[in-house]
Amino acid sequence: MKIAIVTGVAGGIGKASALLLARKGYTVVGMGRRPLFDRTDFDRAGIVYVQGDLSVAEDRSRLLEQACSMGEIGVLVNVAGVAPKQRLDLLEMTEESYDYVMGINTKGTLFLTQAVANEMIRRGKGGSIVNISSCSAYTSSVNRGEYCISKAGVSMITKLFADRLSSEGITVNEVCPGIIATEMTAGVKEKYDRLIADGLVPLGRWGTPDDVAKAVVALCDGTFGYTTGASLIVDGGMHIRSL
Ligand SMILES: NC(=O)c1ccc[n+]([C@@H]2O[C@H](COP(=O)([O-])OP(=O)(O)OC[C@H]3O[C@@H](n4cnc5c(N)ncnc54)[C@H](OP(=O)(O)O)[C@@H]3O)[C@@H](O)[C@H]2O)c1
Repeated sequence: MKIAIVTGVAGGIGKASALLLARKGYTVVGMGRRPLFDRTDFDRAGIVYVQGDLSVAEDRSRLLEQACSMGEIGVLVNVAGVAPKQRLDLLEMTEESYDYVMGINTKGTLFLTQAVANEMIRRGKGGSIVNISSCSAYTSSVNRGEYCISKAGVSMITKLFADRLSSEGITVNEVCPGIIATEMTAGVKEKYDRLIADGLVPLGRWGTPDDVAKAVVALCDGTFGYTTGASLIVDGGMHIRSL
């Protein structure tokens, strides 16, 4: 059985990615922090849910053990991530918030990737790793600097592992979403509605979790077999500079 590990599986992008991977024939083992009360979609798709905290080493080990007990890990999709609990100006950012965001987005992603990569190498059959970073990896937002730093870190994690794992037949790429309609952006919906209406996004709409999931799956399933260390921007053209 070909196993795909997906973190952040209860959230918008994670769930869409997990469901699409399941539809493509992967057995998905997903991790999320919250207790999952409604398992209907997951049960229907055969997705196994491991409740745990990506920033905690024992929880990452538990996730890996669960996946290994079910078969060979072919895919890791690092989706789990958090925004700062409070948006504060860079000059007011707290160490507590920095540690919280970096501990999940960057450190958790780094050490889960390390553990899964070692397992893939041990099995010797290659694999695909996809990281969800963000347009914030290369765009300054001075009221959530710790998030931008954490996602720039994810971009470097992508390049480092792509470099290190290329000789093992493992590709590592990242998807950089723009503005996607999920729980993470629900609190700033009106602001982004306005910006999109004013032309911030050339394609003129919010992105959906499925927009991102399709890119994730294409980077996992061999479609981009000669691509590693790359960034795929899924932002409706928001990164285009125009005069
Ligand atoms: N939405 C956007 O516009 C956008 C844009 C660019 C990049 N992204 C990135 O896309 C990824 C997915 O975000 P989303 O938009 O789908 O938001 P979301 O719906 O809030 O999903 C985030 C997921 O991450 C999980 N998570 C958070 N901390 C965790 C931890 N310590 N351990 C395990 N799981 C944890 C959450 O689980 P719980 O809810 O159970 O805590 C949730 O399932 C994030 O990395 C985010 O930074 C989002």
